Amino acid sequence: MGYSQIYQDWQSDPEAFWMDAAKAIDWVKEPTFALNAAHDPLFEWYTDAKVNTCYNALDRHVQNGRADQTAIIYDSPMTDTKKHISYAELLEQTAQLSGALIARGVEKGDRVIIYMPMIPETIVAMLACTRIGAIHSVVFGGFAANELAVRIDDASPKVILSASCGLEPGRVVAYKPLIDTAIEQASHKPEIVVVYQREQLKAELQESCDYDWCEFQSGVSPAECLPVEGNHPAYILYTSGTTGAPKGVVRPTAGHLVALNWSMKNIYNVDPGEVFWAASDLGWVVGHSYICYAPLIHGNTTVLFEGKPVGTPDAGTFWRVISEHNVRSFFTAPTAFRAIKREDPNGVFKQDYDLTCLRALYLAGERADPDTIHWAQKLLEVPVIDHWWQTETGWTIAGNPIGIEPLPVKIGSPSVAMPGYDIRILDETGKKLPPNTLGAIVIKLPLPPGTFPTLWNAENRFKNSYLSVFPGYYETGDAGMMDEDGYLYVMARTDDVINVAGHRLSTGAMEEVLANHPDVAECAVIGVNDTLKGQLPIGLLCLTKGVNRPHSEIVTECVQLMRDDMGPVAAFKLAAVIDRLPKTRSGKILRSTMAKIADNEAFKMPATIDDSAILDEIKIALQAIGYANAPS
Ligand code: COA
Ligand code: AMP
Repeated sequence: MGYSQIYQDWQSDPEAFWMDAAKAIDWVKEPTFALNAAHDPLFEWYTDAKVNTCYNALDRHVQNGRADQTAIIYDSPMTDTKKHISYAELLEQTAQLSGALIARGVEKGDRVIIYMPMIPETIVAMLACTRIGAIHSVVFGGFAANELAVRIDDASPKVILSASCGLEPGRVVAYKPLIDTAIEQASHKPEIVVVYQREQLKAELQESCDYDWCEFQSGVSPAECLPVEGNHPAYILYTSGTTGAPKGVVRPTAGHLVALNWSMKNIYNVDPGEVFWAASDLGWVVGHSYICYAPLIHGNTTVLFEGKPVGTPDAGTFWRVISEHNVRSFFTAPTAFRAIKREDPNGVFKQDYDLTCLRALYLAGERADPDTIHWAQKLLEVPVIDHWWQTETGWTIAGNPIGIEPLPVKIGSPSVAMPGYDIRILDETGKKLPPNTLGAIVIKLPLPPGTFPTLWNAENRFKNSYLSVFPGYYETGDAGMMDEDGYLYVMARTDDVINVAGHRLSTGAMEEVLANHPDVAECAVIGVNDTLKGQLPIGLLCLTKGVNRPHSEIVTECVQLMRDDMGPVAAFKLAAVIDRLPKTRSGKILRSTMAKIADNEAFKMPATIDDSAILDEIKIALQAIGYANAPS
């Protein structure tokens, strides 16, 4: 059956489609229906089922002949380590950690924060939580203590699982001091912190509340899987919104299992037993879905790579991993390819490796620019598949379902809607727009299984952020258009979220950090184009009256403040001091106009601006830091 038929089948009977897809999951109690619309517009899936995520990711494979198959290939150029962990070994380690969590009083529904680097123990930690119905929340290691504190307060975890350090090129990131500071800052106090000691840096543990990873588990009995309801949250993953407070996306158990399992063959075209690699970080949604859960649920071997596309040790490291581990489908962000292209434009490193095992390259996380796609296609000689999704959806909204039927690739488009997603382009009044017309990209409710029914502790915010502007639709926050063939083009965000190296960041959150500098009276953060990272943040600072210190000093302090408060991942290195910010008469800061000036793009003079001369002042300030420099 081809894509069109499958999409039509879903449209004509979504209930039958998702009940059929559910057959691939091992249930403790099978669902009798798929969609639960009782709390419309909050939709849930498979609510009357009983199931366990870890059982589907590990136990069933061990029981069904995959015990000795490699579950995880840990490849770490950072530590010069390569390790194969079988399904049986992963199950043993996971059940043991689950047992230890239970022994310390962790129960179904309790939250556990995981602040860990790219090591196998992080996957063990995630699975150990789902095994006992605890809800994990993984926090990306590149976030600073303050961001961790915010998540501790929102998720109120009983336990933090961590490691002594993360490894970045040229530096060791000590996690324990960050955790101690975060706990000090947070109002909620987790009961214990468990630390996996890495040999690169050992953490100092406090006797009263810190535990060594191995000692924590010694002498306890391994735990069995606890069946949970279909709508029981498997995890919470925080993502950037327009304000400083991150949004806690809730991922219910059953839909997550069904949708991820469906995606592995139909979208990523791998069969159980084959090797799949997503080069991302477990702290992001791509890592949750496609380093940890989907490959394991589907019985694949997943590659856990601790390194960078360049510099660890060179721009050939991706090609080495693909050829050495027989990777069939490879997934990363376009920025990684831009980084490789910059170092090795002629693909010299690739010549050392046989990549015939690779069937396709998948790109997501940010817009895939045509240059990068062409370059990757020529270099790898496999289809380059752009696909579009978000933390909120957990899996592909629009993609090219190679496992069903490879559709013609249109460069610049992530292709077509996946079953489950009815994508529309609307104008600001909610009217459907004709093909090839730019508008808001929305999805008709309900969202499919595997997505999210609400935000953690924030149902009103969920409704206000996603459902209020276009009633009956989920507002994606992206703008774009669709052509006559149903191919989608995702062009830009409609909110103040920017995308830096495939990482989603909030300019609002950055502004809150800068506003804490004693000399900053008012500020704005804008996202400007960057040839490597897609976008970069720039701060525009208005100083408090009477401050007459050198501007360069204040800018340096602001850069450091951002690194300390938000973390290095913000990639915030540039700011300019200005006299005033351009605003509309109603006081809205004209961030996108300033971004267009920085990028030398044409813009319409906003009708409601109170004083247009201000834009010339902004241009001069941006020119001084290397932007807005197009010859006029
Ligand atoms: N812990 C601590 N610090 C981290 C970190 C982590 N887990 N991840 C990144 N950082 C730091 C980096 O070391 C860097 O610090 P620096 O300012 O001291 O150099 C900073 O955060 C910015 O990181 P990044 O934007 O990733 O830049 P980079 O120069 O280190 O690497 C790329 C650039 C393109 C190579 C890198 O972003 C990459 O490999 N991206 C691949 C795609 C990806 O992972 N996407 C995620 C979603 S799919
Ligand atoms: P995140 O939630 O961090 O995965 O970021 C999701 C956002 O990244 C989307 O809303 C888009 O703005 C952007 N994005 C992700 N994938 C793509 C893609 N293939 N094309 C264009 N933008 C993308």
